[in-house]
Amino acid sequence: MGFADLESVAAAMVAAGKGILAADESSGTIKKRFDKIGLESTEEARRNYRELLFTTPAMAQSISGVIFYDETLRQKTSSGVPFADYLGKLGVVPGIKVDMGTKALAGFPSETITEGLDGLRERLMEYYKLGARFAKWRAVIDIGAGIPSRFAIVANAHALARYAALCQEQNIVPIVEPEVLMDGGHTLERCEEVTDAVLAEVFQQLDGHRVHLEGMILKPNMVISGKKCPQQAKPEQVAEATVRCLKRHVPGAVPGIAFLSGGQSPADATLHLSLMNAMGKLPWQLTFSYGRALQDAALSAWGGKPAGFAAGQGAFAKWARLNSLARDGRFKPGMESQAA
Ligand code: 13P
Repeated sequence: MGFADLESVAAAMVAAGKGILAADESSGTIKKRFDKIGLESTEEARRNYRELLFTTPAMAQSISGVIFYDETLRQKTSSGVPFADYLGKLGVVPGIKVDMGTKALAGFPSETITEGLDGLRERLMEYYKLGARFAKWRAVIDIGAGIPSRFAIVANAHALARYAALCQEQNIVPIVEPEVLMDGGHTLERCEEVTDAVLAEVFQQLDGHRVHLEGMILKPNMVISGKKCPQQAKPEQVAEATVRCLKRHVPGAVPGIAFLSGGQSPADATLHLSLMNAMGKLPWQLTFSYGRALQDAALSAWGGKPAGFAAGQGAFAKWARLNSLARDGRFKPGMESQAA
C-alpha cells in the first residue's frame, strides 16, 4: 500500500482556515462536563449533544475533522444518518480516539502509561469500516517534584509510535498526542524543558518504528506556565517558546501540528494560536484540535435543554470561527466579546 491516501487525509485535516474538533470525551470525561451543567449523562443525552455540535450550520467552513469516541462513531443523527456519514458528506473527516486511557505506571509513583495496544489492529480495521480515516492516542506527562522520569517519557513515546505504525498499516492517519499537562505550579521554562525532552523522544521512536511522517499529525501542548505558577508568561512568550520548541524537534516532513487546549481559557488558546500563525512562515501548518476551548461556551449555552439547542450551536460556531481566524493570525484580543 502506498502513502497517498494518508497524505491526502492529513493535508485535509490541516487545510487552510480549518482545524479539528475534539469531541472524543470518554464516558467518564463527558460525565464530568455534563455534571457542570447539571445534566445526567445518558446515552441519548450524549447523542443529542454530539448532534448539536455536528449539525451546527456552516461548521464545515472552519472544522476539517472531528474526533469521535467509540460510542459516537456508532450513533446517528435524529433523522437516522450515522454521524460519520453525515460529516463525511460535508467534507469533514471523521476520526476516532483509540487509546484506552491512562493507567498508573507500575514502579513509577504519580506517573501514567496509556493503554490500548493489544487488539488495536483489529479495532482499527473495524473503525475504518465505520468511516474513520484518522485516529488519536493521548499520552500524558505530568510535571511535579521528581517527575517526569526518563523512563515514563520513553515508555509513553514508545507506545505512541507503536500505535502510529499500526494506524498507518491500516490506512488511518495517526494523531500523535504527547500532552505535557499544565496543571502544576511549574514555570514556562520548566514546561519547555520537559516538552523538549518529550518531543525529542517521540520523534526518535516514530523514526525507529518507521512511521511515515508525511502521513501523521502531531497534537502537542503549548509551552506555557503551569496553572498554579504565580508568574504567568505573557501570550507573546507562550507563542515564541512554543514555536522555538517545535522547530527544534518537528521535522518539516510533518504536514501539520494541531494543538490541544489543555485547560487554557478559550480566549487564551485562540490568541496563542493566532500569535504563532502571525510569526511568519513556518515549516508546518499550525492549527487547533481543541476540546474544551471549542465546547465550553456551547455546553453552557445549551445547558442540556432543548430550548438551548440553537444557542449552543451559536456558541460553538463562534469559537470555531474565531479559531479559523487564528489560523492566519487574524484573531485579536477582545474579538470574542464583539462576535455574535
Ligand atoms: P482539550 O482541548 O480540552 O485539551 O482536549 C483536547 C484533547 O483531545 C485531549 O486529548
